[in-house]
Amino acid sequence: MTNAKYVSALRFTWLTPLYDFFVGITMPEKKIKQALINTSFLTDYATVLDFGCGTATLTIMAKEHRPSINITGIDIDKTILKNATDKIGLKKLDIRLIAYDGEKLPFLDASFDRIISCLVFHHLESPVKQKILAELYRVTKAGGQLIIADFGRSGSWFQRMLFNLIRGLDGFKPTEANAKGLMPFMISSAGFNYSGIKQRFKTVFGEVQLFKAIKL
Ligand SMILES: C[S@@+](CC[C@H](N)C(=O)[O-])C[C@H]1O[C@@H](n2cnc3c(N)ncnc32)[C@H](O)[C@@H]1O
Repeated sequence: MTNAKYVSALRFTWLTPLYDFFVGITMPEKKIKQALINTSFLTDYATVLDFGCGTATLTIMAKEHRPSINITGIDIDKTILKNATDKIGLKKLDIRLIAYDGEKLPFLDASFDRIISCLVFHHLESPVKQKILAELYRVTKAGGQLIIADFGRSGSWFQRMLFNLIRGLDGFKPTEANAKGLMPFMISSAGFNYSGIKQRFKTVFGEVQLFKAIKL
C-alpha cells in the first residue's frame, strides 16, 4: 500500500500516460540514459536496481545493453508501473518490477552491485532524499556503485534559469537541493564515496548531471 505523498512523473497523475512522449520530445532522454548505463559499467550477471523506474525506459535499456543482468525496477507509483509492465511485456524481457510504499526498501542489506536512477531525486524533498540515499546505501553491496542522473546546479546562468520551469512544475521544495548543487554532499552524507559528476547535459529544463559514487 502506498501511503507516502509523492510527486508523480509529470506532477499530475492524469498526465502519466503522456510521460514517455513528453520526455522523448523535450529532453535528450536516450542520450542521458545511455550515458548513465555506460558510466555504470554493467558486468555480466550483476544485480541492478533502477530506483524510481517509472515507465521502465532505463530498466529496459540496461537489460538490452547487458542481457545477463538481474535487474529490478522499483517505483512508488502503481499507475506508472502498469505502463512499465506493458512495455516490458511487449519486449518479453525478464525484469522484476516492484511497487513500494516509499519507506524501507523491500530488499536485504547488500543486495545490489549497481543502483541506477534517472530524474527521480528532484521529485524528493531533502529529508526524503537523505532517507532514500541511506536506504540505497544499505542495499548496495560493498564495492557496488550508485549512478544518478538528475538536475544539478549549472555553471550557466541560462541553464539555472531554465531549471525554474521544472521547479514550477515539480515544486520548489523537492527541487531545492538540486538547484543549490547539494546532491554530491547528500550522496556523501549517506556513506557513499562520491566520485564526481561524470557528465553534464544541457536541456531545455536545465542541466542534468551524472553523479557517481561507490560503497567502499
Ligand atoms: C520523472 S519520473 C522518471 C522516471 C524514470 N526514472 C525515467 O527516467 O524515465 C520520476 C519517477 O520517480 C518516481 N518517484 C517519485 N517519488 C518516489 C519515491 N519516493 N520513491 C520511488 N519513486 C518515486 C515517480 O513515480 C516517477 O516514476
